Amino acid sequence: MLVSYSVYYKNNIFLKMDQNTKKHRVAESVLDLIGNDEILGIGSGSTVNILIDHLPKMKNKISKVVSSSIKSTELLKANGFEVSELKSVGKLSTYIDGADEINGYLQMIKGGGGALTREKILAHSSKRFICIVDDSKKVNILGNYPLPIEVIPLAQSAVALELIRMGGRPVLRQNFTTDNGNIILDVHNFMISEPLKLEKEINNIPGVVTNGIFALNHADMLLSAGDNGVDISEPIV
Ligand code: 5RP
Repeated sequence: MLVSYSVYYKNNIFLKMDQNTKKHRVAESVLDLIGNDEILGIGSGSTVNILIDHLPKMKNKISKVVSSSIKSTELLKANGFEVSELKSVGKLSTYIDGADEINGYLQMIKGGGGALTREKILAHSSKRFICIVDDSKKVNILGNYPLPIEVIPLAQSAVALELIRMGGRPVLRQNFTTDNGNIILDVHNFMISEPLKLEKEINNIPGVVTNGIFALNHADMLLSAGDNGVDISEPIV
């Protein structure tokens, strides 16, 4: 497994903070932003898994929880939460999730864990979207991380051909089925200088369920853990 290390000085000694430690820091920090009576949406991925482990501390503030994946639902239940359906709660007050890449406008690539469709639905249904990442996820231009696209299985070749025509190199995610019973194409070679435009273009290909560009549904707030602590930022306007 590849572990990214950063090195910094404190009290004249070198300290190394690995990516996992940063994920723990940011997951704990976001607890402070949970208000009273939250109807909370919970994303997916390793950073969110850490958050879920801390969430029982905030139980008295959370009125309802909605989950973006089977895995997060299982973890929430294991931590003593009853998980509600989105259709029964309507609007979420806060949605918290990680990202694979995030730019200064708080537009993201998501879907590394394959939960992008439900994540996008929850992001769209929430009043406030807080993204939690370690600082390795911050980029100027999206696209170094292969863009996940959830596709209805029978449309695999048709969608792949269209993505190639657009300049991408789609690769079928092996041995993987989404929670919705679909496949994922991970698309390499897209440098995404206009995220909103590309998000809409890809969504217009018949057979695409969702793509992992979160520009229409960008985050409202970013918590990013680095060597010197957790930074909070809002989208560039
Ligand atoms: C899952 C996601 C995750 O938010 C993204 O992959 C980041 O995951 P991690 O916290 O493990 O780095 O979009 O579909």
